Amino acid sequence: MVQATPVLLVLSLALVAPGLSTRKCVLTGRWRNDLGSNMTIEAVNAKGDFSGSYHTAVTATTNEIKVSPLQGSQHHTNQNRQPTFGFTVNWSFSDSVTVFTGQCFVDEKGREVLKTMWLLRSSVGNIMDDWKATRVGTNVFTRLQPQKE
Ligand code: BTN
Repeated sequence: MVQATPVLLVLSLALVAPGLSTRKCVLTGRWRNDLGSNMTIEAVNAKGDFSGSYHTAVTATTNEIKVSPLQGSQHHTNQNRQPTFGFTVNWSFSDSVTVFTGQCFVDEKGREVLKTMWLLRSSVGNIMDDWKATRVGTNVFTRLQPQKE
């Protein structure tokens, strides 16, 4: 006599698991990171290029934070459902530039997540200060759902 519970378990896994693994991670949309910064990525074109805007929650300066433009590129392979990418934020309120590089993943619950590393280059007035001009860190971005009206 075949037990119903294990059979149902295997059947439900067979139905759910392929759906999770084949879901594609898409960069376009609104994202928030672990610092509370918000970013919008516009459409990714056929070459993999994209633009967008970045509203950082924090700054290394004393300047008033303003929304800043970003330019990026997604790896060109269409086969990869978890693509690698990079983008540059040219800060509009400081002399700094940040480059991010990362990968767009679909986690075990089917949610998209951007795992990134960044280098923030600040401007220094003297070459002797070059050693302290670059910060490094990581950010994890999750998708902001569109507001329901
Ligand atoms: C500056 O302070 O000159 C510009 C803002 C830098 C914000 C950094 S970039 C890396 C990290 N991730 C964020 O979302 N914000 C900070």
